[in-house]
Amino acid sequence: MKKNILITGGLGILGAALVKKLSKQNFNIFIIDRSKNKKKIKVLGLHNLNKVKIIKGNFIKYKSVFKIVKNKKIGTIFHLGAITQVIDAYKSPVETFNSNIIGTINILETVRNLKKNINIIFSSSDKAYGSLLGNAYKENHQLKGNFPYDVSKSASDLIVQSYVKTYGLKAGIIRSGNIYGPGDLNMDRLVPHVIISTLKKKKSILRSNGKLIRDYIYVDDVANAYFLLMRKMASTKENLRIYNVGSKENFTVIEFVKLMTKKINGQEIFPIIKNNSKIEIYRQKLNYQKIKNDLNWYPKSRFNESLIKTIRWYKDNLSFFDSKFL
Ligand SMILES: NC(=O)c1ccc[n+]([C@@H]2O[C@H](COP(=O)([O-])OP(=O)(O)OC[C@H]3O[C@@H](n4cnc5c(N)ncnc54)[C@H](O)[C@@H]3O)[C@@H](O)[C@H]2O)c1
Repeated sequence: MKKNILITGGLGILGAALVKKLSKQNFNIFIIDRSKNKKKIKVLGLHNLNKVKIIKGNFIKYKSVFKIVKNKKIGTIFHLGAITQVIDAYKSPVETFNSNIIGTINILETVRNLKKNINIIFSSSDKAYGSLLGNAYKENHQLKGNFPYDVSKSASDLIVQSYVKTYGLKAGIIRSGNIYGPGDLNMDRLVPHVIISTLKKKKSILRSNGKLIRDYIYVDDVANAYFLLMRKMASTKENLRIYNVGSKENFTVIEFVKLMTKKINGQEIFPIIKNNSKIEIYRQKLNYQKIKNDLNWYPKSRFNESLIKTIRWYKDNLSFFDSKFL
C-alpha cells in the first residue's frame, strides 16, 4: 500500500481520530484544513505526532488540492472536510453546496486529471438517504436528502459514484450516523454542548423538540471503519464499495441528554427545548450488516466507557472552550 495519505478536514473530530490511528501505522500523513490554530492542534493531541504535516488550505481551490496531491505523491485521499453543521448549512446553503459538492468534485477531478492510482475514501452521511421509510437505511436505498446539508451529502455521494462508474476512479464511501467522542469542537453539536453546559452548571438548550432519533457511534469505531475500508480498497480490484456505519445506541435526543447529564452530575437534567427545527429528519437508523459481513467491522467500544472517556476529555480541556477563538 502506498504510504502517503491526504486527509481533508483532518482537524475535525473524525479526522483527528483517524490521523492518530494512521500515525501509529507508519504512514506519512498530510492534512489540509482551513484552520491551523496551534491551540486547536494541541487540544486534539496532534501537536507532536511524527509523520503528520498540517497544511493550511481550502479544498474549494482546485489548484491547491491538485498541487498537494501531485507533489506529495498521495496514494489515498480521505475526503472528510465539509460544512458539517445542519444549522450552518441551513443558514448558508450556497457555501454548503460549494464546499460539500464542488469541494468533492475538486478531489475527484484531481485524481481524474492526474491519471494515477489514487484511492478515495469519502465521508457521506446517513443524512444522504433523507427520510427513513422502513426500519433502517440499507446501502441500496435511494439517496433523497431534503435539507441543504442532507442534499449536499446525497449529491456528493452520487457524484463520487458517478466518477467511479464513468472515469474508472476507485472510491470507498462511508455513510455513518452521529459521531461522538473526544475532540468535537463544534459547540452547536449535541454532545459537546450538553457536556460543557452541564460541567459549567448551565442547562443545555436543544434546537429540536428532543424527539429526533439517531444512531450514536464512538469516534474511534468510525475511524476504524475508515481504516478497514482503506485497506480493503488497496487490496480489492473492485472500484466502488459503500458501507453504512451505525451502532446499537439508537436514542432520542432527550434520552441521550439524560444519559450524559446523569453521568456528569449523578442526576438527569432536562434540557431547555426550543423546538424550532423543521430542518431535520425525524428518525434515523442504519443497518450495518454489510460492513460487518465484508470487513468484520462492528462498534467495538462499550457505550458506558466511551461516554465516560468523552466526558473526561471535556472536563480535562474545559479551559480551551473558554478561549476566544471558539
Ligand atoms: N460528526 C458526525 O456526526 C458525522 C456523521 C456523518 C457524517 N459525517 C461526515 O464526516 C466528515 C467529518 O466530520 P467531522 O464531524 O469530523 O467534521 P468536523 O466539523 O469536526 O470537521 C470538519 C473539518 O473540515 C474542515 N473544513 C471544512 N471545510 C473546509 C474546506 N473548504 N477546506 C479545508 N478544510 C475544511 C474544518 O475546518 C474542520 O476541521 C464530514 O464530511 C461530515 O459531513 C460526520
